[in-house]
Amino acid sequence: MKNILITGGAGFIGSNFINQILTNRDDWQIINLDKLTYAGNLENLKESDKKSNYTFVKGDINNFELVEYLFQKYKFDYVINFAAESHVDRSILGSAIFYQTNVMGTNVLLEVAKKYGIEKFLQVSTDEVYGSLGTTGLFTESTPISPNSPYSASKASADMMALSFYHTFGMPILVTRCSNNYGPFQFPEKLIPLMIINSLNDKKLPVYGDGLNVRDWIYVDDHNRAIELVLEKGKFGEVYNIGASSEMPNIEIIKMILKLLNKSEELIQYVKDRPGHDRRYAIDSSKISNEIGWAPLNSFENAIAMTVEWYLKNQAWWNRIITGEYRNYFNVQYGERLI
Ligand code: NAD
Ligand code: DAU
Repeated sequence: MKNILITGGAGFIGSNFINQILTNRDDWQIINLDKLTYAGNLENLKESDKKSNYTFVKGDINNFELVEYLFQKYKFDYVINFAAESHVDRSILGSAIFYQTNVMGTNVLLEVAKKYGIEKFLQVSTDEVYGSLGTTGLFTESTPISPNSPYSASKASADMMALSFYHTFGMPILVTRCSNNYGPFQFPEKLIPLMIINSLNDKKLPVYGDGLNVRDWIYVDDHNRAIELVLEKGKFGEVYNIGASSEMPNIEIIKMILKLLNKSEELIQYVKDRPGHDRRYAIDSSKISNEIGWAPLNSFENAIAMTVEWYLKNQAWWNRIITGEYRNYFNVQYGERLI
């Protein structure tokens, strides 16, 4: 049995990771440490919550004493750090919490892991650390780090800090840099769930700028399988890009969603651009494919249809987010909500 500390496991990617792992294996004892910010939703984990090898702890990765207590109690073998403030638009409205959580919180986890020892520490980073591409080229692991938003700068800092703990202290660090995820349980501030939900409610679909910014989309389960494989087979001190070679301009995705839902393109509304809006992301995944044997299993065409279907079937889930009721699940007070 391995004891695993998962941070941020009540968010979109972390909850899918926990649900997937606990369905497929019983040799992991998972402790999920999550602060339950607006993005944390325990309703994502209803199935996992029934499992005896799953424990939820409400708390902040910045809380050194709490993290230390958990290390003493559970003697973790692995840490997977998903916890973060993750939304670029919010980082433009106010950046302090992004540095507090993404940088200082990661520092707490690394320091405590250094103190108590760890077999593997995986930092979940992002392709946004590379900045923006022109019309050609791909991000490889040796593309210079050049983040443009307060969010991506905070993630770049955490990513480089984790690698510095490998170089300086010989810690068993692994870093993954993935492209844009979509799938079940994604908080409806992000492009795909926002567009699905607004379409279903016949609300306008806000398209930033000319709608031609390009993102490289990956289904969340493919990202999470890659994380599991990197944890199993990755080399310490290495970075692994993760992407599914599914580049798409935003407007094309929006039109695809409207078509799947049989809604009119008249809902599209071009709005003022995001400040500092990165033009294009595209990932070269050949390293993880050649060295670890990972490849995505889902095509964009199939997985976007599955995702739209999921939001259609789970209206109660997202309605409880819109009304704010989801925050009562753990009996916590409302925080500030942007939607
Ligand atoms: P999310 O915003 O849905 O979830 C973040 C989770 O972290 C929430 O449950 C939140 O409550 C928790 N959290 C926030 N601050 C915390 C703190 N101080 N202590 C403990 N928990 C805290 O994010 P996501 O989209 O699931 O992303 C997860 C990770 O993957 C992040 O590190 C993000 O940078 C990275 N990532 C995301 C994408 C993407 O497309 N969403 C792509 C690549 C990498
Ligand atoms: O690339 C990985 C990153 O992808 C992750 O590290 C981030 O955590 C995640 O939030 C995501 O960042 P983006 O900024 O690319 O995702 P977002 O869903 O916010 O926006 C995707 C694109 O859609 C982007 O070009 C902005 C545009 N957009 C977004 C929203 C919310 C719109 O045009 N309208 C919108 O309302």
